[in-house]
Amino acid sequence: MAVREILTLPDDRLKTPVDPVDSVTEEHRRLYRDMKETVSESPGVALAAPQIGEMAPVIYVDVSQDRRRDEPNHGEIFLVNPTLELRDAPETIREGCLSVPRFTGNVRRYQSVTVSGLTEEGERTSLTAEGWEAVALQHEIDHLDGTLFLDRIESLRGDLFRRSNE
Ligand code: NI
Repeated sequence: MAVREILTLPDDRLKTPVDPVDSVTEEHRRLYRDMKETVSESPGVALAAPQIGEMAPVIYVDVSQDRRRDEPNHGEIFLVNPTLELRDAPETIREGCLSVPRFTGNVRRYQSVTVSGLTEEGERTSLTAEGWEAVALQHEIDHLDGTLFLDRIESLRGDLFRRSNE
């Protein structure tokens, strides 16, 4: 396992979509371990592979690491080829991104989503998430499309905020 450097804007890899893969390989499982360790050493709770320069359709989410929130969650989620199957209850929430330091933004996200994908063993799975975990899944799946929360902000004047503690 290794803590990896997290790319930040304006790195082009953050704006580059990645393609689905045919199967889960040892390389993806190594990525899983690196992403887990990288998140654990970061102020965030989730990561997409392109954020560490790996152009693979892989996300890692663990909102149980966020002690400020106490909501039901799945603990560690690792998915290859994740896709949003169902979405419900749109709401505007404030979010940030490890690749966009110093800013947060108001973004429209669904509060309930069902996501499918492949497990680290390559088995097809799906899960339904609510609240912060649902938001994190949408945010990370966006990364695989080369989309950042900045791309979803409606108004730079009204919806983008400089972090006050940095
Ligand atoms: Ni992000």
